Amino acid sequence: KTGYITLDPGYGNTGSCESAITFIDGEKGILRYRGIPIEQFEQAPNFVEVAWLLIFGHLPCPDEYKTFSDDLTATANLDESMKHHFEGFPRSAPPMAILSAMINALSCFHPEFFELEDKDDFREAAAGLISKVRTIAAYAYRQSIGLPYIYPNPALRYVPNFLHMMFSQPYAEHVCDPLVRDALNLILLLHADHEQNCSTSTVRMVGSSQANLFASCAAGVCALWGPLHGGANVAVLEMLEQIHQGQISPEDYVRLAKDRDSKVRLMGFGHRVYRNFDPRAKMLARVADNLLPTLGVHDPLLDIARKLEEIALEDPYFIDRQLYPNVDFYSGIILRAIGIPTNMFTVMFAIGRLPGWIAHWWEQSETQGTKIARPRQIYMGPNETDHVPRGERC
Ligand code: SDX
Repeated sequence: KTGYITLDPGYGNTGSCESAITFIDGEKGILRYRGIPIEQFEQAPNFVEVAWLLIFGHLPCPDEYKTFSDDLTATANLDESMKHHFEGFPRSAPPMAILSAMINALSCFHPEFFELEDKDDFREAAAGLISKVRTIAAYAYRQSIGLPYIYPNPALRYVPNFLHMMFSQPYAEHVCDPLVRDALNLILLLHADHEQNCSTSTVRMVGSSQANLFASCAAGVCALWGPLHGGANVAVLEMLEQIHQGQISPEDYVRLAKDRDSKVRLMGFGHRVYRNFDPRAKMLARVADNLLPTLGVHDPLLDIARKLEEIALEDPYFIDRQLYPNVDFYSGIILRAIGIPTNMFTVMFAIGRLPGWIAHWWEQSETQGTKIARPRQIYMGPNETDHVPRGERC
């Protein structure tokens, strides 16, 4: 057994594989991390705990949690010379390009992570990557707005430390509101894994050649960037802004999204697996409804999102195709209320998804060893034909 279901001995490996990390029932709208329904993480959400659960297969005992948290604190800094890379990017550089480049660049500074001999090596590499990805994201943001980098503060936990690096000023430390801390913990953990989605399959594919963890996750960032995948949370905000600015009404936008020739889609709606509500969308809608009023934020885009949802869920086009809101429909509205700029939304998705990528990379290396992923094709090209010298062509 290679971990892949062989379609036919002649075809070798196909695109489906076995995994024990995340379970989805698309018909019923069920999502479980190592068997635990995601709804059970809603009270006192803790992204670091979920990262450990996905990667190591169980919720961390107190000692494991402390060791992992200490590892995250100890590895938050980047090698100082990595700053030169940030300064080499134009301020307008897309943060996802910087994120992918800098995760790959990390492997140049940590050759010790090229060969992970045992679980301790792996835990160190996983902690280092999960910790540093915050620093990379924050530095990319600071560089884009011409502000000095803010070093990680070892006294702060995962999410408050990220917000500190994003929003503190040299002499005015950002204070993390517990409500915002919990909301961002929940957003990150809801993005943490989703079985064989496009970016996770990319990480598994690249990792199957025994490429190192950093290179495999850098490839995952590139796959996530697309607007049909992780880039949808930015596209949702652009869609809502278009309607908010009066360029089009919600009703007309939905009409456009139903017209296949328009190439327009109702962003944040639909899913390859869910034929019911994406359970993450339901939870994020609750966060949006609770957090914004508590922060004193009234975002007209939330009202527009609600209106679009109402129209679509009553429309036979969406009902017949079982198209419901997905994880991206509300996430951007919450991130905006927290102060995260729109061009950083997909980066937030990547920070959340990183533990899932790492878990799948490790599961694959443990279960398939040297079996490289090699999907086969159904050849549709010409039958055998002869080469024609250039002088005799067309
Ligand atoms: C994520 O795989 C994962 O798990 C991904 C993810 C994760 O956690 O990793 O959940 C994260 O990527 C969520 C999806 C984010 N993307 C978007 O919100 C973009 C908008 N959604 C669509 O592009 C689409 O729904 C997809 C890409 C999400 C899924 O596309 P599928 O399964 O390939 O569906 P399809 O394109 O074959 O559509 C089936 C029909 C088509 O119409 P008909 O050919 O039957 O006439 O449904 C229509 C589509 O035109 N359709 C939509 C639509 N989504 C599908 N029509 C209008 N608006 C939409 N959003």
